[in-house]
Amino acid sequence: MADPRLRVIDRRLSTIDHIIAVCSGKGGVGKSVVASTLSLLLARRGLEVGLLDLDFTCPATHLILGVGDATPEEERGIVPPSFHGVEYMSLIY
Ligand SMILES: Nc1ncnc2c1ncn2[C@@H]1O[C@H](COP(=O)(O)OP(=O)(O)OP(=O)(O)O)[C@@H](O)[C@H]1O
Ligand SMILES: [Mg+2]
Repeated sequence: MADPRLRVIDRRLSTIDHIIAVCSGKGGVGKSVVASTLSLLLARRGLEVGLLDLDFTCPATHLILGVGDATPEEERGIVPPSFHGVEYMSLIY
């Protein structure tokens, strides 16, 4: 039987218009700075923005954005904390 969570993921992703991947094959080139800045600028333009930091080795956007002690809550799934209009999720959680 198919994993029911896959359908939930599909449904939630269906409301997202654009996904911008910030990635590189090299370390230390500015991915975290670009991803953080881009999300803040897009949110300031009035767009609904989420930032998902999928850096497995050294996630840093929580430091750049000053996330502090805020943690996600759970309510029929995960509710990410929001900073400066950016809904934030990271592997640090
Ligand atoms: N446009 C830029 N001009 C000058 N310095 C920058 C620029 N973008 C990032 N830096 C600096 O380069 C360093 C690495 O940036 P950042 O941490 O964003 O890179 P990264 O690709 O996320 O690194 P990692 O691979 O370790 O995750 C930081 O010290 C940052 O301040
Ligand atoms: Mg980084």
